[in-house]
Amino acid sequence: MSAGTEHVMVVHEQDPYNAEPTPSALAEHALTPVGVFYGRNHGTIPVIAPQEWRLRIDGMVEHPLELSLADLKQRFAHREVVATLQCAGNRRAGLQAVRDIPGQHPWGAGATSTARWGGAGLADVLAAAGMRPGVTDIEFEAPDIAGEATPPQPYGSSISAAKATAGETMLIWEMNGKPLPVEHGGPVRVVVPGHIGARSVKWIERITAQDHPSDNFFQASAYRLLPADADPARTGIGDGFALTAVALNSAILRPDDHAVLPSGPTTIKGYAYAGDDRGIARVDVSVDGGRTWLQAELEEDLGPWAWRFWHATVGLPVGEVTITARAWDTTAAVQPEHPESVWNPPGYINNSWPAITVSVHDVAG
Ligand code: MTE
Repeated sequence: MSAGTEHVMVVHEQDPYNAEPTPSALAEHALTPVGVFYGRNHGTIPVIAPQEWRLRIDGMVEHPLELSLADLKQRFAHREVVATLQCAGNRRAGLQAVRDIPGQHPWGAGATSTARWGGAGLADVLAAAGMRPGVTDIEFEAPDIAGEATPPQPYGSSISAAKATAGETMLIWEMNGKPLPVEHGGPVRVVVPGHIGARSVKWIERITAQDHPSDNFFQASAYRLLPADADPARTGIGDGFALTAVALNSAILRPDDHAVLPSGPTTIKGYAYAGDDRGIARVDVSVDGGRTWLQAELEEDLGPWAWRFWHATVGLPVGEVTITARAWDTTAAVQPEHPESVWNPPGYINNSWPAITVSVHDVAG
């Protein structure tokens, strides 16, 4: 965490460091400053000197490679992408309000942030290694040790070969124009735009081309969607399905939940985001529990891999008012209304309508 940002971060755990910004801090910048960007770690943050860092590329390739940071910078075209990272546990607190999910952090809507990422295209690096026919998955391995796995194991994950060779997937060493900070994966991390944050492996050390998904704990056992009646204590490797693309979601960032406000026009602001090849088409806001809706204005389009800020100015009636939002994506899918309908035991992908409650008093009274 950067000095001076403590007041904007809600820290769920110190080590491993897990923290998210307050909703109002997140609303301030369309490109999230480093000190406000959420942090999600399964192990202690490793400290790696950039000059000692090496990346191995192996498995089903013609030319296994070992690259230094200088090699990456010299051998491959520099590329940039503005991309949102969203943790699969984003908005879990809304599921925990329905039914307890023990042992999991109660993330609000702040496990989502957006940056301008700079580095090399993973497709370019894989092309230099020369993938052999039959490769279906690209595995990532990092050095940080995750105690959640039994026995503890280094963090890892995989994505499909198609996603790995799509132009947006990158090896990153710059965040918002500066060297990638260690807490976000420096010297080098993977960024997989449009996929859940878990696939954007930090402190990447090894990339393996193979013909099956990773058997790492975070691919084979965690970050999988189980049915609501599954008993997580009895589930095993390969149960449920692995989470990949981010679901359509939105959040209300301003005003604060439980704010006390004067009656009259108030601006409601939030984000909406949909993974992979889906864009945000429309966001609606309601102040009467979803009986009537006002269409929000979509703010600047930061490109296909980024969230969309939105705002709407509504007249608030006096009393306890619930403000609700719902987003549509470009396939005309709309968010589900109730968290009960998306509840699942590890508490992933709560994309039900976001709602806040404010207390409105009469300014004239
Ligand atoms: N990579 C490593 N090596 N170790 C981790 O614990 N956490 C993942 C992913 N990459 C993780 C990792 C998860 S679950 C998320 S949501 C994102 O990193 C969070 O990235 P951030 O901390 O930069 O926000």
